[in-house]
Amino acid sequence: MSTPKESSAATAGLRGVVAAQSSIGDVNGDEGILIYQGYNIHDLAENSTFEETVFLLWNGRLPKSGELEDLRKQFQANYEAPKEVLEFMKHFPKDADPMDVLRTAVSALDFYDKDGHGTDRETALKTAIKLTGQLPALVAAWERIRNSKDVVAPDDSLSIAENFLYMLRGEKPDADEARMFDVCLILHADHELNASTFTTRVISGTLADVYGAVTGGIAALAGPLHGGANTNVMKTLLEIDSPDKVEAWLDKALEEKRKIMGIGHAVYKTEDPRATWLRKFSKQMGERTGTMKWYEMSEKIEKLMLEKKGMYPNVDFYSASTYYLMGIPLDLYTPIFAISRISGWTGHILEQYSNNKLIRPRAEYIGERDLKYAAIDQR
Ligand code: COA
Repeated sequence: MSTPKESSAATAGLRGVVAAQSSIGDVNGDEGILIYQGYNIHDLAENSTFEETVFLLWNGRLPKSGELEDLRKQFQANYEAPKEVLEFMKHFPKDADPMDVLRTAVSALDFYDKDGHGTDRETALKTAIKLTGQLPALVAAWERIRNSKDVVAPDDSLSIAENFLYMLRGEKPDADEARMFDVCLILHADHELNASTFTTRVISGTLADVYGAVTGGIAALAGPLHGGANTNVMKTLLEIDSPDKVEAWLDKALEEKRKIMGIGHAVYKTEDPRATWLRKFSKQMGERTGTMKWYEMSEKIEKLMLEKKGMYPNVDFYSASTYYLMGIPLDLYTPIFAISRISGWTGHILEQYSNNKLIRPRAEYIGERDLKYAAIDQR
């Protein structure tokens, strides 16, 4: 006898369905509260660093100073991507999307890590450290390769945030910009069972290795309804081009039932707490560069969407103008999301391995039954 099934009609998109127990992060959508391992995101954004936040996500507690130093050293020892993978990337078409490049390159990293296949905590943690160290190098290298520039070797005296900006541009960021970017990485690190994290849990639940699970996570993150939204926010701002055109543009877009990128959220019904920080950074970057128009346009869209639709900005809304004013190309916004979210993905993968149960839900069959096979010339 087969197991009874409940109708999925009421849970399209699995909204509100609890699919795992986790102590990594929690989203309170009604009150706009995000916590990582018990710590409020605002507290971490104010006081922590990305490296420390990663330790927290993986270990369930804040590190002592020796432990943090040790983790930093392990990341720094893995800042360089294998030369074979960099060489492989040089053969990719120059117009390849950076998320597709990242997905393929991460999958290829697996070939050069002979010890990276275990699902025991020690092995999986080592792989998580390697991937967190190497992802920024892959993203920055692709930007250099596609522009026919030499790849910039990492500087292992720098933090992950500083080093990424350095490898991307060949120049070290100043302290303010580095701190802003570091906080951006903290804010994107985890978000409970979002689509890409769920993907990594489904893959690791089969006891596939960390590289496979992360490759799947990158594929899911690339979608425009998930991580791909930040690039589309900037495309929208560029399309509108000026604060005085916002209202007419928005009215027309809503009339045409277009979705406004960076607005709305599957869980938050109030302000996304990450947007609170990114709004501040967008303004700060506007002031630093003397270009306030992107911030002003964003503010206007935010206000009008609240008035007209009762909807709030999500994490992608203000990160777009923040990154734009940092001079980062539009199609790298989602890969930047990945170089942060790798920490949450691997945290969830470690948690999945530690108490694994194959994830295998049922589908409600709504097709026909008892059809009789007809020969091809009789259909
Ligand atoms: N702009 C305009 N209308 C929107 C909207 C947006 N960004 N997001 C949702 N809506 C509307 C839908 O059109 C729908 O209206 P209807 O009931 O009249 O058909 C209603 O709100 C519910 O939308 P739905 O897509 O079912 O809600 P959801 O909870 O599944 O959506 C998102 C969550 C994030 C997928 C959705 O808000 C969206 O597509 N946002 C833009 C993409 C984005 O920023 N993604 C990043 C998320 S972090």
